[in-house]
Amino acid sequence: EHFPNYTEGLAKGSPGGFVLSPEYARHAEELLQFQPRSDDVWIVTFPKCGTTWTQELVWMVMNDCNEEIGLKLPLNLRSPFLEFPYLTPAQPKDAPLELNKLVSLETIEKMPSPRLIKTHLPLYLLHPNLLDTSKVVYVVRNPKDVIVSFLYHHRLIKFHCFTGTLDQFAQYFMDDELYYSPFFAHALEAWAQRRRPNMLFLFYEDMKNNLRGEIERVADFLGKSLSGEQLARLVAHLQFENFAKNESVNFEAGKQMGFMNQEGRFIRKGETGDWKNHFSPELNDRIDQWIEKNLAGTDLKFVTEL
Ligand code: A3P
Repeated sequence: EHFPNYTEGLAKGSPGGFVLSPEYARHAEELLQFQPRSDDVWIVTFPKCGTTWTQELVWMVMNDCNEEIGLKLPLNLRSPFLEFPYLTPAQPKDAPLELNKLVSLETIEKMPSPRLIKTHLPLYLLHPNLLDTSKVVYVVRNPKDVIVSFLYHHRLIKFHCFTGTLDQFAQYFMDDELYYSPFFAHALEAWAQRRRPNMLFLFYEDMKNNLRGEIERVADFLGKSLSGEQLARLVAHLQFENFAKNESVNFEAGKQMGFMNQEGRFIRKGETGDWKNHFSPELNDRIDQWIEKNLAGTDLKFVTEL
């Protein structure tokens, strides 16, 4: 009822009950079979956990902090979004630029090494050998801020066109009815793999707290070394204020291309604890209980304020 554009509904596309578009469900097998390479790096996240920020960080570390190229070439071309062509129904022929053809699976298959691939698919919907083959950076963020950020995202992207309230949205989130849900299954599956040599598990809140330290962890993981000067420049490059202005990463072009509303920004606020400006005490209690229930018996812990 609150998603007038979901004319085909959403599909529970896997035995895990994972939610995506019917178009995804038609291509799920192809995505599962998509071959990783030994020199790939994959960024795997639930949406709104700091994907874009981490993609730029990792790309810079992989590419000797080449700001000249990084500032010129849009991030989605340097680091393609694996399932993007299948997120929405096939675009009408007169759609601006036929967005779903911009990056196809075939293009990613042909990209020269080393590739940096972004996906929001949970590990169990990716190639079973992914973690034996490629390096994977998984980033997670506390679910309270993810809910708020995902709400703004659903208002910003025209396709989602969410028309309900925050309270309704939060309930959809907790009921695992939104794209890429369920959040906890996504995060906990990766958490269970966090000690694998090819896996680096990051928290958004740690990046907020100590960006320099997290860049160093990424560099170690990828076997790269950065000079003190490179590190300082990269910290500045990734600071929220600079990032929000950087047209190669901020997706402002989506407004001209027509898939984003004029109001709102993809690089929106970049804070930990913004949920406090949004949740009523009653909603907050409900969310706390939901988090507690889902983390019971696990050792995953989230920081919700810094
Ligand atoms: P907010 O909506 O809370 O501002 P993703 O890239 O996974 O979609 O995540 C988007 C979230 O990451 C947004 O959160 C966005 O503002 C935040 N973000 C992007 N770049 C950032 C940066 N340089 N520093 C801090 N947060 C950043």
